[in-house]
Amino acid sequence: MRITVLGSAAGGGFPQWNCNCRNCAGLRAGTLKAKARTQSSIFVQPDDGDDGVLFNASPDILEQIRSKPALQPARTLRDTAIAGVVLMDGQIDHATGLFMLRERTSPLPLWCTDPVEEDLRSGNPVLAVLGHYCGVDRHRIALDGTSFSVPGIADLSFRALPLSSKAAPYSPHRDNPVEGDNIGMLISDGHSGKSVFYAPGLGQITPAVFDAMSSADAVMVDGTFWTDDEMPRMGLSTKTARDIGHLPQSGPGGMLEWLAKLPAATQRMLIHINNTNPILDEDSEERATLARADVEVCEDNMLIRV
Ligand code: MLT
Ligand code: MN
Ligand code: ZN
Repeated sequence: MRITVLGSAAGGGFPQWNCNCRNCAGLRAGTLKAKARTQSSIFVQPDDGDDGVLFNASPDILEQIRSKPALQPARTLRDTAIAGVVLMDGQIDHATGLFMLRERTSPLPLWCTDPVEEDLRSGNPVLAVLGHYCGVDRHRIALDGTSFSVPGIADLSFRALPLSSKAAPYSPHRDNPVEGDNIGMLISDGHSGKSVFYAPGLGQITPAVFDAMSSADAVMVDGTFWTDDEMPRMGLSTKTARDIGHLPQSGPGGMLEWLAKLPAATQRMLIHINNTNPILDEDSEERATLARADVEVCEDNMLIRV
């Protein structure tokens, strides 16, 4: 399969519009070796064929589509390579882009869990609003390990895993988690036999999550924060990484410890990187630590073949 990273940043993007942290200020000033990033989304295509599946619809989706001609194959007067949209949660950075797809000429094929559908019909009623435009052809993502496929996308199948992370701040489940608020996805290519585990928001690695990660040829997992107290230490928030559903990379029980336990051949990638994370600085000690651990930092426009 081919995975195009459309947006590798967490909510807010990099640089974030109102932020003057070391990273954001350094990128604007041209004094930091780092790349700008849009908000969290990937596009997954089988080895053959133009059409693919969009994972998450970022607020930056129009810019992401414009900069990737592959997403606009121009076969008909109105066209798209997006055969369907799959949501990992109902967070603003993953769902707001749905508004931008309203000019479709047929209902938008959308896969999400029940709790996410509920949030997107009430707290942030994008699905209800889209009913006045193209409409939504919503498919339920099951949480019992059943695989699904997306019509028109041969070879690829998808299996969701409920994750411990966080529903969006507007959700009634923000502090009372419900199974399916957040999911990870095992994406399998029946033709090549290869698979990828994708989880941009991952707060806790349970045995089931670690099994899925271990079974995959590549993992693209939560790269939001380097340290648990990254935001409080910078005076930007009172909440830790874990408080808001993101497992930090460093420290005891952190993502790097888990990634080190995967089979040696597994391709390890971090995605959904917050603008405060020192790994964005390509000259940083933290980035060197990742390189030594064979962990890649996703950037926008990266093409990954698995
Ligand atoms: C998150 O991943 O924690 C959220 O997307 C943050 C946000 O809403 O910007
Ligand atoms: Mn997010
Ligand atoms: Zn910043």
